Amino acid sequence: MSETVLRVELGERAYPIHIGPGLMGRAELYAPHVQGRRAALVTNETVAPLYAERVEATLAQAGATTTLRIVLRDGEAFKTWESLERIYAQLLEAQADRATLIVALGGGVVGDVAGFAAATFQRGIPHLQVPTTLLAQVDSSVGGKTAINHALGKNMIGAFHQPVAVIADTASLVTLPPREFAAGLAEVVKHGAIHDLEFLAWIESHAQELVAREPRALAHAIRRSCEIKARIVAADERETGARALLNFGHTFGHAIESAAGYGTWLHGEAVATGMALAARFSARLGRIPAADAQRLVALLARLGLPVDAPSFPLDTWLEYMGRDKKNEGGRITLILLDSLGRAAIVKDTPAAALRDFLAAG
Ligand code: NAD
Ligand code: GLY
Repeated sequence: MSETVLRVELGERAYPIHIGPGLMGRAELYAPHVQGRRAALVTNETVAPLYAERVEATLAQAGATTTLRIVLRDGEAFKTWESLERIYAQLLEAQADRATLIVALGGGVVGDVAGFAAATFQRGIPHLQVPTTLLAQVDSSVGGKTAINHALGKNMIGAFHQPVAVIADTASLVTLPPREFAAGLAEVVKHGAIHDLEFLAWIESHAQELVAREPRALAHAIRRSCEIKARIVAADERETGARALLNFGHTFGHAIESAAGYGTWLHGEAVATGMALAARFSARLGRIPAADAQRLVALLARLGLPVDAPSFPLDTWLEYMGRDKKNEGGRITLILLDSLGRAAIVKDTPAAALRDFLAAG
């Protein structure tokens, strides 16, 4: 499997996404961003023993003068102010400066927290993403959304801050536990469902290979997902329009993650169930045939993902969905389907229909 390079076309903030096996050990990919600078590697207690030494050695080869290692506790429950504070404290103790490069090594949690630290430390320093989960390689490392959670809502405190590069080493996925791997497939399906029916059909016909982590199939899924995401981000970096489509399944999904307690459901699992709900609700409203909703639900289930909503009281759903960042003027905005492969931003979701749908469970 060879290397692919894509670009997120954002003018002076444009950057490459490198995808391929073994890339985290390739010094020339880091060198343009690190030469003569200090680096700070932000990772977590699970990923550090697997990959931190290799990345630190590569940063040294690439010309980093020193690399500080910052190790966070693992999990969505630690996507918090306390983790952010730990990063700031270590950066300050080491006298990091504005030229220091933050390197985020890990999944979406590390990427989002390290990215937010980079967005805010000394009013903004550069960061580079080295995603090591499937979810982070197909979604979270690309596009510059950074955040921490608040007890009352997911990703509620954050900033847009684009990385200088993404280095997605597909070989790192061999150590990923099966449940985490499946969670990443949810975001792959999302890209097909909102934007590319042909890709969705390809996922259906390669579901077995994907679950088996067959390298060729996996490479295509990562590449196509990044292409779709990069194009949407380039067109609408700060989500004033089309970027919200990438939130398909997330209004229900974020409510599930927050209400269940961070870490109970994996993000990708909550998004899978959220997409199943959004597809069923699209069918309920007559936007798509029920058979199309069922087709998407069946694919998610085949990939080992949950598709049935937890039994929250109606008020719990409405409380958390009511805090979604897409909402305007107290009305819940949803991303719904107009067909498989085409999503729409729906700002005038009929409130009564949504209540009936949620109450029916
Ligand atoms: P995660 O970061 O919690 O990683 C999942 C688990 O896998 C963790 O236990 C981690 O330590 C472990 N891990 C990571 N790489 C590994 C490897 N190679 N081998 C073995 N274990 C490994 O979860 P995630 O699914 O990567 O990311 C979810 C987060 O991403 C959520 O907080 C979500 O909100 C965020 N997200 C952000 C964006 C964005 O645009 N910024 C998009 C989607 C999701
Ligand atoms: N994951 C949604 C986005 O990046 O916009």
